[in-house]
Amino acid sequence: MAYGAEDRIDTPRVTDWVNDWDWLDDGWGENAIDIWNEVREVCPVGSTERYGRAFMPVTMDAVRDIANNTDDFSSIWVNVSRPDAPRAAAPPITSDPPDHHGHRRLILPAFNPKAIAAIEQEMRDYCRGLIKDLDGMDAVDAAVQYTQNIPVHGICIVTGLPEEDADLFRDWIYKNFQLAPKDNSIRLQVLTEMTHYISAILKDRLENPKDDLLTVVANAEIDGKEVDWDIKVGYIRLQIIAGIDTTWSAIGSGLWHFAQHNNEVQQLVAVSNDDPLWQTANEEVLRYYAPVTMARKVINDVTVQGCPMHVGDQTLVTFPAANHDPAAFEDAHIFKLDRQNNRHVAFGLGIHRCAGSNLARLEMLVAFQEWLRAFPNYSLDPTKKTTWANGQVRGPRQIPVLLNR
Ligand code: HEM
Repeated sequence: MAYGAEDRIDTPRVTDWVNDWDWLDDGWGENAIDIWNEVREVCPVGSTERYGRAFMPVTMDAVRDIANNTDDFSSIWVNVSRPDAPRAAAPPITSDPPDHHGHRRLILPAFNPKAIAAIEQEMRDYCRGLIKDLDGMDAVDAAVQYTQNIPVHGICIVTGLPEEDADLFRDWIYKNFQLAPKDNSIRLQVLTEMTHYISAILKDRLENPKDDLLTVVANAEIDGKEVDWDIKVGYIRLQIIAGIDTTWSAIGSGLWHFAQHNNEVQQLVAVSNDDPLWQTANEEVLRYYAPVTMARKVINDVTVQGCPMHVGDQTLVTFPAANHDPAAFEDAHIFKLDRQNNRHVAFGLGIHRCAGSNLARLEMLVAFQEWLRAFPNYSLDPTKKTTWANGQVRGPRQIPVLLNR
């Protein structure tokens, strides 16, 4: 099916976030936390008609109700987009029970704690190399010159994808999340390009096997039955889409935060890398700046915290908003470096809980430790502006800073 310019929807700026929210509005990226807090004062679930009818839960209870209910909410649509958007499977994230389990089991070993711990030194050396490249510079972009590169390095080690294609991956990610929800032609273009690219690499791995996830996927079987080719391509599409800008956003949000809270930087650099303060700080970045909002398709009429939803509606699963619910966290609005018992839901809840959380946590920790120790007095550049990605994966894309060596 061909899509043209008529497949793009243009929408006005949001003035009512309770009844007319839009996660691609320019206000979302920088202000999402305030938006969710304001909506929560009015009701637990916001709504919009901009993508057909779609909901936005903002309390922990509402988010939990949706994430844990795979009978009434399907993952075949994991992004609130035009209802007529072309969609393709990217298991396990787009799978429902009973298929979901087999897909998840297939990719999980690549991300187990032992496999991820083994790449710590490599990730540390890589971060140090990026920092070395800043020698002689005083004003740099912490997103472009640091955060955006780290997760690509990690995902390429784990999967075997070629790191020299990093710009291509980031271009697909940008188009997929920032443009495609409103533009079917762009969604189709990204899908087509990714399918061709991934198919070629998987075919190569069939002939030239290596010790990597690409080779596992190229030969994938579930219960002794070969997995369909489209599904194999979908596994790798998910690795690229889920494994890069998610962690890039989390590291970027952390660096943006710490640039404005030098007292916290000083507390961190005063202790050793294995001090628990680094762990609690990492988790608090995940809670406070959780980058990933998922979505579901409503497949049965259902009521969530008093809000009726109908078959065919879409809903966000606004994990980042739940992390700011004062009913779930003491002083939810305060960033606490040493927050204890931090039961945040940045990595989701239930059967789809993030498969890459060990990798994400490691990349974040190492990236923070190396940067803060190298530049303990860095600050935001007052002459330039931080820019934010809207929508499904929210985080800074340009963070101009002064290194103040
Ligand atoms: C800070 C970084 C990250 C965050 C905040 C994050 C967040 C999430 C969330 C919220 C989900 C739940 C999806 C749902 O309920 O529909 C998820 C699933 C998933 N994530 Fe992550 N993620 C991150 C990094 C990564 C990385 C580095 C990978 C590696 C490829 C990854 C791979 C996956 C996969 C495969 C799933 C699907 C699991 C399933 O459906 O069973 N994520 N992630």
